Amino acid sequence: MNVFAANWKMHLGPADARDYVTTFLRTYTPQPDRAVWFFPPAVSLQAVADALAGKEGLLAGAQDIHWEPKGAFTGAISGPLAAQAGARAVLVGHSERRHLFGETDAETGRKLDAAVAAGLHPVLCVGETLAQRERGETLAVVTRQLAAAVKSGVDVTIAYEPVWAIGTGRNATPQDAAAVHRAIRRWLEARATPIIRILYGGSVNLKNAAELLAERELDGVLVGGASLDPVAWAQLVQTRIS
Ligand code: 13P
Repeated sequence: MNVFAANWKMHLGPADARDYVTTFLRTYTPQPDRAVWFFPPAVSLQAVADALAGKEGLLAGAQDIHWEPKGAFTGAISGPLAAQAGARAVLVGHSERRHLFGETDAETGRKLDAAVAAGLHPVLCVGETLAQRERGETLAVVTRQLAAAVKSGVDVTIAYEPVWAIGTGRNATPQDAAAVHRAIRRWLEARATPIIRILYGGSVNLKNAAELLAERELDGVLVGGASLDPVAWAQLVQTRIS
């Protein structure tokens, strides 16, 4: 089963989100070997969740949650609030949260626990910066990020997103990605994680998706910019996987 995850980041309000899903559903033919997960901004979560309700293989998730279930945290949303709006999954530790908003490894760990407590499937994002890659620290960084958040026996999806490949048009080669995915897989196997699913993210688009997905180490993709157009996204989701 391949997962095609769309991270809309700070795009598509509720009305646009509804139109998007209508167009996507008109264009996309469901396929049993793939699931499509949508991560709209919080204000559009309910609109997307409602539009996808009862559709096999399609779900909506939040882009981020606070680690507390409720309280005085102006501007934040919690796992239970996201779940109430229809979320079934949540991104945790996206590199933009880590690098633009200063989120620490310890905080991603608390958020992952909060996701599980709220019944949301966590998608933990890990990945190194360009400077870290050039210093040969990729596996050390990724392992540190995993260790801070993943607990034995907890069902989690990992998204490996090298920071230098996000929004830059510069994607990792399938071989580069596979080497890191293999290391992540070994790390998870040693901790008896129930289902191992590792997505790749960073400048994935219609042109490079087939080549990336041909690499057996990739269990799917997490896509930002190339997921914003519903017709192009439906085409990307139907990429033939060899
Ligand atoms: P781009 O696909 O725009 O590079 O973004 C990747 C990403 O951050 C998905 O979470």
